[in-house]
Amino acid sequence: MINFKEVIAEQIAKMINWQKEEILQLIEIPKDSNNGDYAFPCFRLAKTLKKAPPAIATEMKEKIEIDPNMITKIEIAGGYLNFFVNKTTQIKELIKEIATQEEFGKSDYGKEKNIIVEYSAPNIAKPFHIGHLRTTGIGQALYNIYQYLGFHVTGINHIGDYGTQFGKMIEGYKRWGKEYSFDQNPIDDMLAIYVRINDLCKKDENVLNACRDNFKKLEDKDPYCLEIWNRFKTLSLKEFQRIYDMLGTKFDSWNGEAFYSDKMPEVIDILEKSGHLKESNGAKIIDLEDQGISTPCMIVKSNGSTTYDTRDLAAILYRARTYDFDKCLYVVAYEQDLHFRQVFGAAKYLGLDEKYLKGLEHVSYGMVRLKSGKMSTREGTLIKLEDLLNESIARVKEIMEEKNPDLENIDEIAKKIGIGAVIFNNLATNRIKDQIFDWDEVLNFQGETGPYIQYTYVRTKSVLEKVGKLPNFDEIEVEKLQDEYSLKIMDMIYHFEDILKQVVEKNEPSILARYLIDLSKAFSTFYNENKIIGDDKSCQDARIYLTYMTGKVLKQGAKLIGMEMPDKM
Ligand code: ARG
Repeated sequence: MINFKEVIAEQIAKMINWQKEEILQLIEIPKDSNNGDYAFPCFRLAKTLKKAPPAIATEMKEKIEIDPNMITKIEIAGGYLNFFVNKTTQIKELIKEIATQEEFGKSDYGKEKNIIVEYSAPNIAKPFHIGHLRTTGIGQALYNIYQYLGFHVTGINHIGDYGTQFGKMIEGYKRWGKEYSFDQNPIDDMLAIYVRINDLCKKDENVLNACRDNFKKLEDKDPYCLEIWNRFKTLSLKEFQRIYDMLGTKFDSWNGEAFYSDKMPEVIDILEKSGHLKESNGAKIIDLEDQGISTPCMIVKSNGSTTYDTRDLAAILYRARTYDFDKCLYVVAYEQDLHFRQVFGAAKYLGLDEKYLKGLEHVSYGMVRLKSGKMSTREGTLIKLEDLLNESIARVKEIMEEKNPDLENIDEIAKKIGIGAVIFNNLATNRIKDQIFDWDEVLNFQGETGPYIQYTYVRTKSVLEKVGKLPNFDEIEVEKLQDEYSLKIMDMIYHFEDILKQVVEKNEPSILARYLIDLSKAFSTFYNENKIIGDDKSCQDARIYLTYMTGKVLKQGAKLIGMEMPDKM
């Protein structure tokens, strides 16, 4: 497809002797379409040319040679050159592109780049609650979008299956395992054991020591401890998989913390040799004061056992060697900001290539709060994600039964909408913001929600169904799509790939979520203002095609953020 921005950049490059890439960086998309489709700011040139930016713009305007099939008009506004794209060319191109490409907006932009996205990473033997939705949903969306842009992506579920708490779990199981069936709600049973043993540890130092001992035994591969630990793990993963199936979550690797148990001695050795490992009250730490981090990174505890930090360091080393990553993204809550600053700081002493250190990035996100208040395991206000998804489906079903009682396959549709609503809501706000979960908002079919996007998509489907056959794309009269509302949609569709690039640049899927809302709104306005089906056949065909294009982009965008589209609702 013609890239108008590049066309403009090439012409400017010819005039001012700059690299095209540099110019591309500067070209902006004006907020107000009255200022054209692209704008080039002349301010940076003022210094070298020793002229005022408006004067430079005037001169450039006179000299620039651009094919009128590409750019119809250039205007000067302040120090800007504003370019107006030839809409006929743009729309023709776009129609052809959509008609001939199976997957619109897909590219090889990221080819030869290796991206690791680490997401979800729940702890075994603990409930999968709504707090996990953010990492799981944001991570999966990033995975999908990077991949769509041609990056080579590896999704890793860094399961929390190691650490001293498992020493406690083993102790609890030894004592009370027989009292529980681990049948109906195995995670609840495991949690109950965990709460009990924790209480006992607080009262009795000997029990605590036994727990520590168990973890040491687990690290030393004691068969009995391993067997119990494996049982916890199998039971938990089976539970988690049900949720992943509902959400459409997939991973390429399930290497969790335990995977690194035999890879830590090497890390400790490297750190030791680097001269940065220090003794401190019997423990081994890395001081990070000189990096502006006042809490040191704990590598080996005084009892000799390894830590969460050490496992993360081992993972960095392993991932650099195994995946040769350009970026390694950690989609983890902002509560772990300090942890990642420490780990990334200590990673500087692993002797890795600078490339890997630069590629490490904590993609942090805010908390989810219920409208009714904070979640807490102890007060029983912790909401399991599976329960939340099922409730969403049930609520949607109720709404559908009322609104559209004749709907076939209502269960399947309610599932798509109910789960889609939750997935969308999870991604709709800037990831770093805390979020308040409110059913009235999440399921509002008219609000800025997943169901609203699905509803808009279904509308495009029903228009197409009414006419039956899609007109031939090469017979569309492009002139019929030059009204304000059609142009707005065309313009948005044209920028779909840019939006995806912005998502990966900022690791911010909410940009795509926002786009889908805006596109849905633009279509609703178009739908209300223009008669799609009418007497003028060529006008009808053009509008039908626009409707088809909108539906296609909505569906593709929704798929990338992990939301399925129903055909009816
Ligand atoms: N399992 C951890 C938790 O639930 C999250 C793991 C984050 N990833 C990492 N590489 N440390 O808190």
